[in-house]
Amino acid sequence: MAPLVVLISGCSTGIGLALAVRLAQDPDKKYLVYATMRNLAKKEAIEKAAGDALDKTLFVRQLDVTVDDQVKTIFEFIMGKHGRVDVLVNNAGFGFFGALEAMSMEKAKNMFDTNYFGTVRLIRAALPIMKKQKSGRIVNISSVVGHLALPYMDMYNASKFAMEGLSESLLPQLKNFGISISTVQPGPVATNFGEALAANASTEEDNKDVSEETVKQMTAFRLLLHKPDLFAAQQTEPVIDVIVECVEADKPKLRYPTSDSVRSWVAKRYRKEGVTGLESLFE
Ligand SMILES: NC(=O)c1ccc[n+]([C@@H]2O[C@H](COP(=O)([O-])OP(=O)(O)OC[C@H]3O[C@@H](n4cnc5c(N)ncnc54)[C@H](OP(=O)(O)O)[C@@H]3O)[C@@H](O)[C@H]2O)c1
Repeated sequence: MAPLVVLISGCSTGIGLALAVRLAQDPDKKYLVYATMRNLAKKEAIEKAAGDALDKTLFVRQLDVTVDDQVKTIFEFIMGKHGRVDVLVNNAGFGFFGALEAMSMEKAKNMFDTNYFGTVRLIRAALPIMKKQKSGRIVNISSVVGHLALPYMDMYNASKFAMEGLSESLLPQLKNFGISISTVQPGPVATNFGEALAANASTEEDNKDVSEETVKQMTAFRLLLHKPDLFAAQQTEPVIDVIVECVEADKPKLRYPTSDSVRSWVAKRYRKEGVTGLESLFE
């Protein structure tokens, strides 16, 4: 069978990098992987990790998911070379921690432009191709917070809820075309995501108009997030196992939580009628 052509966004680090390398190093060479990133100056890490697979089954290309022209260019390039796109993994994304009133509208819009509209842009480009092929697999890297909103991550939660809604809405529309769509829902994962989140968190300057009580509550919640028994980060490889399971399933499910903790948090959330205090979210 011809190898499946895979496009992954956000491969400079973390989940995207590890997934691209795992698929490209498949012993049966089942995949040709386009590992994309917005800043090619960061390509050394994936090139090193890819080893012999580089330029054989793994190809590094530029893609900023917020730039329409770059989306057009990468799909045209892949179609020109292979005439098909079999698997699309929407992975690019970032988080924000802070009070909503301290998040500038510019940052809020940029978050949606990346986490949600980035996904929309790539799916829109993939659908005409996949519908013509009568096959395709779309995998959206969502989060536990696509179901269970965490305080002070409002826009990030909302972007992942939107991704979940989009996926659920498209699923029945795509079934007759042989196209599957799934979300993968990790809890905390040991990648650069936490660092990026900290770098992106609201500053004292952002918080200057935020009430003292809010800052106090937010600080207490941030400490709660650092309790290792509550939020022990999952390693990347088990998350990649789940994504590969989704990519290779005969009949992919709509949702793939990546750990028992995620499954139990989500189950608890739905068992609760009303959530009152911040701590009670994790009881
Ligand atoms: N790690 C976690 O705890 C966790 C938990 C649940 C869900 N997730 C989700 O998993 C996905 C991957 O995150 P990660 O953990 O691997 O974090 P990561 O190591 O920070 O990787 C995020 C990737 O997204 C890229 N990116 C950001 N904006 C982009 C844009 N406009 N265009 C293209 N790429 C862009 C980053 O590129 P740069 O290097 O250029 O910034 C980076 O390659 C994200 O969607 C995240 O929401 C992560």
